[in-house]
Amino acid sequence: MWIRSKQSKQLALEHQELESLVLARTAELQKLSQRLLKVQDEERRRFARDLHDSTGQTLSALKMSILFMRQSCKEDPAKLALISDVEALADQALEEIRTISYLLHPPLLDEVGFACAAEWYIEGFSKRSGINVKAEIATLRDRLPKSMEVALFRVLQESLTNVHRHSGASDAIVYFKREAETVVLEIRDFGKGISAERLRLLRRVSAEAGVGLAGMRERLHELNGHLEIESDGHGTSLRATVPLYAVARPVQFEDRSAPMEAAQA
Ligand SMILES: Nc1ncnc2c1ncn2[C@@H]1O[C@H](COP(=O)(O)OP(=O)(O)OP(=O)(O)O)[C@@H](O)[C@H]1O
Ligand SMILES: [Mg+2]
Repeated sequence: MWIRSKQSKQLALEHQELESLVLARTAELQKLSQRLLKVQDEERRRFARDLHDSTGQTLSALKMSILFMRQSCKEDPAKLALISDVEALADQALEEIRTISYLLHPPLLDEVGFACAAEWYIEGFSKRSGINVKAEIATLRDRLPKSMEVALFRVLQESLTNVHRHSGASDAIVYFKREAETVVLEIRDFGKGISAERLRLLRRVSAEAGVGLAGMRERLHELNGHLEIESDGHGTSLRATVPLYAVARPVQFEDRSAPMEAAQA
């Protein structure tokens, strides 16, 4: 009897030790993924700037040379036609560089904030994808903290990419507004939706979710925010909520099991 109770005490102790080890490891992993997302944002920003300032500038210089060539070949229609072709290619390359660099990190996000950058992105996305996206974006009186603007912008990008890749929708709506103490970004599509069974899996932290949903969750979690997914046969809605007082909080595993979390993606 005495031996059995000693054994079960020992077991309980080992169990407790294992649990705290798992909690510590999970917190470390969470910290690492948040750090990776930051590094990724910073790299995108640097790459966008370098691309714009190096290849973008080279192409602008090429265009100046083309102008010079055009003037010196005024009398030769065959050469002029060739020069026009080269000029069109240089314009196309310049446009492509600009689009890639702006998608990596839109300068509007730093300069004028989330609302303008979101409208710009939605307009371009509509053109590129052929999906008609209505934007109801409130302009806030004050700028949001930089980390919040970047997180919201990445949520918007990933959600619309998902609409394009998975929903089959031809229409979508993006809402962005301030509620009492929070800002809310909602991306709703009118596509085929997600089956109830898959939705259940996606709402849990599971391997079913891709990098996209996991990254969105992680970004929002760092700002004390959360992500909710609703879906039925008429489409999918993804809602990101972030408190306005948000400051990056220290990673705490316990917070993840807050009562609301079960219903949140
Ligand atoms: N708007 C949507 N309509 C229908 N299904 C969706 C939608 N958004 C997400 N899904 C489903 O949720 C899954 C997980 O999305 P998630 O963005 O995490 O991964 P992914 O898009 O498959 O891959 P990636 O890691 O490249 O983002 C998708 O594979 C898809 O089945
Ligand atoms: Mg995705």
